[in-house]
Amino acid sequence: MNQRLFIVFEGIDSSGKTTQAELLKNSLIANQQQAVISPEPSNGIIGNLIRQALKKRIIFSKEQDLFDQQMAYLFAADRHDHLYNDVDGVFKLIKDNYHVISTRYYFSSLAYNCDTVEQFNFIQKLNDRFPNPDLTIYLDIPIEVSLARLQERSLQEIYETKAKLTKVKEQYQQIFTAYQGKAIAIDGTQDQQQIHQTIVAQVQAITKA
Ligand code: TMP
Repeated sequence: MNQRLFIVFEGIDSSGKTTQAELLKNSLIANQQQAVISPEPSNGIIGNLIRQALKKRIIFSKEQDLFDQQMAYLFAADRHDHLYNDVDGVFKLIKDNYHVISTRYYFSSLAYNCDTVEQFNFIQKLNDRFPNPDLTIYLDIPIEVSLARLQERSLQEIYETKAKLTKVKEQYQQIFTAYQGKAIAIDGTQDQQQIHQTIVAQVQAITKA
């Protein structure tokens, strides 16, 4: 199998993206293939700036609208860096023969960073030149499960509220209903290994196609 894939995990907070990304990476490596996890927000400079803002260590504007716009620009800038930087960008890694697994991508911007149709169109425009992944896996969990899992963490980030996550989940549903690329939705409340096996089967189907 020579084709190297760009695989994206999406879902509301605590839906199991990181766990499943790790399991997938390990199973690819066990099959003698190189694989790496590369998250968004990225581990680069802009990604770090975003993480500070998510923890309210940086406030760009007290006006919610302007703050949201600033975040949308930063996420898009971070995404460009994540995809195209020459050191550890997604496409550099794929060229170097790695499968690249990203927890979150532009779908997260569409799901999290807009409330109105006008804002959705703005975010879509900001992101419309980014290529679709080879496979997107949407892990679907109820809001209550997300909130219960989040409560186990000490620090809450700005988008981790019931109202926000309810809106985000609705947005995800709309986005993936309209999405033309290759995507699957998986019930994220299933057993971890069961979810993992479904994902492995999908990845194998693509690489054998
Ligand atoms: P994480 O919980 O996966 O580390 O992501 C951090 C937060 O960033 C999460 O609440 C979702 C948010 N986010 C956006 O709002 N827009 C984006 O484009 C991305 C990639 C993440």
